[in-house]
Amino acid sequence: MTTLAFDVYGTLIDTAGVTTALRQHVGDNAVTFSNLWRQKQLEYTWRYGLMGHYQDFNICTQQALAYCCDQLECDISLADQKTLMDGYLELPAFNDVMDGLEALKSAGIEMYAFSNGRPTDLSALLDHAQITPYLSGVVSVHPKQTFKPNPVVYQHFVDSSGASREDCWLVSSNGFDVCGAVSVDMKAIWIQRNNAVKFDHWTQRPTKVIDSFSKLKNIFV
Ligand code: LAC
Repeated sequence: MTTLAFDVYGTLIDTAGVTTALRQHVGDNAVTFSNLWRQKQLEYTWRYGLMGHYQDFNICTQQALAYCCDQLECDISLADQKTLMDGYLELPAFNDVMDGLEALKSAGIEMYAFSNGRPTDLSALLDHAQITPYLSGVVSVHPKQTFKPNPVVYQHFVDSSGASREDCWLVSSNGFDVCGAVSVDMKAIWIQRNNAVKFDHWTQRPTKVIDSFSKLKNIFV
């Protein structure tokens, strides 16, 4: 049975949703700040993963925020940093997500969230964005104490969903995630919402590429 594993941050949920809150603190630097925050957060997951020294995703996000304050010379108090971190639990879904989920659910497709996030954070985030009712479950890398694209976490998804590997499709806007899944023989769809974002010139290629989450229905329904 076809089983979809949706990446969360950057695919279902828009991490740029923090930009509005950031504007109060850093003004016109908000977009630069938000992009660097996300970039550093991911870099920390890779570094902690390679070091074999797991720090959960929330810590990566928090440490990346503190780094951005230093790097961009923005004086955001610890209390305001905490408020920004709380806002990370209330990020919005991308506009094309609900339409896609609705069509897939009506077609009886098995859907999961699959993410680097901590289980408790993912529950809060997906509840807030009203995505939870569409899902059969939420699979976090947390029990494996490492991050994407370690092959261990994709196997963890296959084991947790109970589906066969051939039936599992990762759906992600994050190129490194797509490469990770394809590298362990899962199928993977890359959502290229922004034409300015290019795919890596690697041998691992997405099985399919679409420009909107809502177009999943053209593949699976
Ligand atoms: C996630 C990261 C990759 O949700 O954004 O797993």
